[in-house]
Amino acid sequence: MIERIEQLRAEAQTAIAGASSSEALEELRVKYLGRKAELPQLLRGVAQLEAAERGAVGKAANEARQTLEKQLEAKGQELAIKELDEQLRTDRVDVTLPGDPLPAVGRLHLITRTRREIEDVFIGLGFNVAEGPEVETAYYNFDALNTPVTHPSRLMSDTFYVKPAPDIFDPQTVLLRVHTSPVQIRSMELQPPPIYIVIPGRTYRPDNDATHSPQFHQIEGLAVDTDVTLSDLKGTLLAFARAIFGADRQIRLRPHFFPFTEPSVEVDVSCFNCTDGITADGRRCPLCKGTSWIEILGAGMVDPNVLAHVSANGYDPERVQGFAFGMGIERIAMLKHGVPDLRLMYDNDIRFLEQF
Ligand code: PHE
Repeated sequence: MIERIEQLRAEAQTAIAGASSSEALEELRVKYLGRKAELPQLLRGVAQLEAAERGAVGKAANEARQTLEKQLEAKGQELAIKELDEQLRTDRVDVTLPGDPLPAVGRLHLITRTRREIEDVFIGLGFNVAEGPEVETAYYNFDALNTPVTHPSRLMSDTFYVKPAPDIFDPQTVLLRVHTSPVQIRSMELQPPPIYIVIPGRTYRPDNDATHSPQFHQIEGLAVDTDVTLSDLKGTLLAFARAIFGADRQIRLRPHFFPFTEPSVEVDVSCFNCTDGITADGRRCPLCKGTSWIEILGAGMVDPNVLAHVSANGYDPERVQGFAFGMGIERIAMLKHGVPDLRLMYDNDIRFLEQF
């Protein structure tokens, strides 16, 4: 009997020592210590043995069981640690690898991108960036900009009025600014000359077609100093046109009219899509309509009547003069990237947006 117990113990010990997994170990536990296993059955049978034998056999069987239980416990822990290590090793996630599928990287909207490009050009020329309110008074939007009450842009049909009280011609009438020019006045009220600023921002007009949106963006320029001339304006805009549309560009100034500049000009850039109005494949250029010039902005020398509104802050029209210009950001983006319809920029169609 005792011999059999020793034999079972030795056999089990060897098997347990060689177990290669928790699963195999559990099988061995059932095989040697389970309910139907030989050793526990022997133990259960001890009571039926001769009194002389009972003590020794019981002791041997008990010891064998305890030894095996301890060994199973130790081996179990050893295997659990090994298996966890193995799992950690094989399941390791390299968080430095790119995701799968690659996450789509966001981008700036074409309008934001174009605004920043334009800002950067002027920052490089020594200008600062200024901003002002989109909800304005008629004073800043029209009166201080030398715009008479008879000007057609002041009509109900051409401006969004928020509070036309007591009438739309009152300087305190509240409206949505139709251009960024009111910030010329606001900036000059805040800062005495010299001033060199560009003013990006949203503007509003009751227009809606392929090239006009009721809400759009402009960027204004203003330079006032003791010795600023029309040639400074031309040189500044030439540098701008070349930075945005290419180093080979030329610009031309055509006489025009704005209430707040005198003289006023419209500025064209030489077409970057053709030579003398004819495209590479011999057709009339659709971009410049065969004229080889494209209108990009309005500009002029700041009218002394405008400076008179801020003369208290050092803008004496006898002592300082300056230039101003204003352009549509959407228009610049459309020209530069060949966008056929301005409304594409507001549709939020990802197929359009991700091209830029
Ligand atoms: N404010 C004018 C417009 O919206 C543009 C402009 C700005 C013209 C500054 C001259 C000087 O059309």
